Amino acid sequence: MEKISAAITAVGGYVPDTKLTNFDLEKMVDTNDEWIRSRTGIEERRILREPGQGSSDMAVPAIQEILRKKNMAATEIDCIICATVTPDMVFPATANVIADKLGATQAWGYDMSAACSGFLFALTTGAMYIESGRFKKVIVVGVDKMSAIIDYTDRATCIIFGDGAGAVLLEPNTEGLGIKDSILRSDGSGRQYLHMKAGGSVKPASVETVLAKEHFAYQEGQAVFKFAVKGMADVSAELLERNGLTGDDIAWLVPHQANLRIIDATANRMGLPKEKVMVNIQRYGNTTAGTLPLCLWDWEKQLKKGDNLVLAAFGGGFTWGATWVKWAY
Ligand code: UT7
Repeated sequence: MEKISAAITAVGGYVPDTKLTNFDLEKMVDTNDEWIRSRTGIEERRILREPGQGSSDMAVPAIQEILRKKNMAATEIDCIICATVTPDMVFPATANVIADKLGATQAWGYDMSAACSGFLFALTTGAMYIESGRFKKVIVVGVDKMSAIIDYTDRATCIIFGDGAGAVLLEPNTEGLGIKDSILRSDGSGRQYLHMKAGGSVKPASVETVLAKEHFAYQEGQAVFKFAVKGMADVSAELLERNGLTGDDIAWLVPHQANLRIIDATANRMGLPKEKVMVNIQRYGNTTAGTLPLCLWDWEKQLKKGDNLVLAAFGGGFTWGATWVKWAY
């Protein structure tokens, strides 16, 4: 029997129109454009400002772009996996809300909570549904409305995050293209450095938790930075080695966009020049689960069939990983 692999066959994306620039942030907290640029590479981020809108409102247009490109009806979607840490509500899953808004009445789905590695974890999971032969059209969407959980008086954290969504369609492929290999890792002992203190079952929302600002993302940036540099670079190098690949074989590194210095460290470790590294952090900041598919969205026209891509991420959990993809179109 022919081996079925899971290929990315279309990409869609969505970022809100409203821009929050470094100069805007200068007016909100004690920071400056020079510091933010040199420490992170970020110049501006997008913010979903409209009241009553949530992550599903960014995921839906991203997926609709795919449906348009593929001339496909929403009812053809078998499954939607939504990677997010900012779901519309604690429950039901945002994937369900997305399916409803799209009219994807034949789809089942669920949310994947793996912070900045969410898209990577969801991509690998979605690929398995295709490889098994069980499903033919799986949507993997990475979306976060980080502005909903950011404290805009905390200068160390508010400067890096933004809002956005990116999505891919996975379909069966018999030419050996698509998702080739993944190394995924998690280490819950890292949760102390990056988490939300309240709103879960351990510490439900109360007047006290709101007053103590415990519903915002808490990050010890420097500690996360050290783990991220090592984690993302190690796993990317390991992925190359176990597949007998070198930097010369790789057309593109698609790195999580948290900090330009983390991206540079990973690229150096893989022996990749800057021209092979997708970087759009200056325009969107860190959109958590949105970063990887938003890179694919921005670079889609430059990708060629057969190109080797390495997608790499590190984030809250800790969670991290790298995936080798052979581009299929
Ligand atoms: O998305 C996945 C998970 N997240 C990450 O991967 C993020 C990883 N961490 C980072 O990217 C960086 O740690 C940050 C960008 C968040 C912070 O940069 P840093 O170079 O680690 O800064 P720091 O926290 O070590 O602070 C250095 C100095 C401090 O001043 P002193 O104590 O040396 O006087 C901070 O108070 O910079 C100060 N500082 C700022 N100054 C101007 C911190 N934030 C700011 C700011 N503007 N926004």
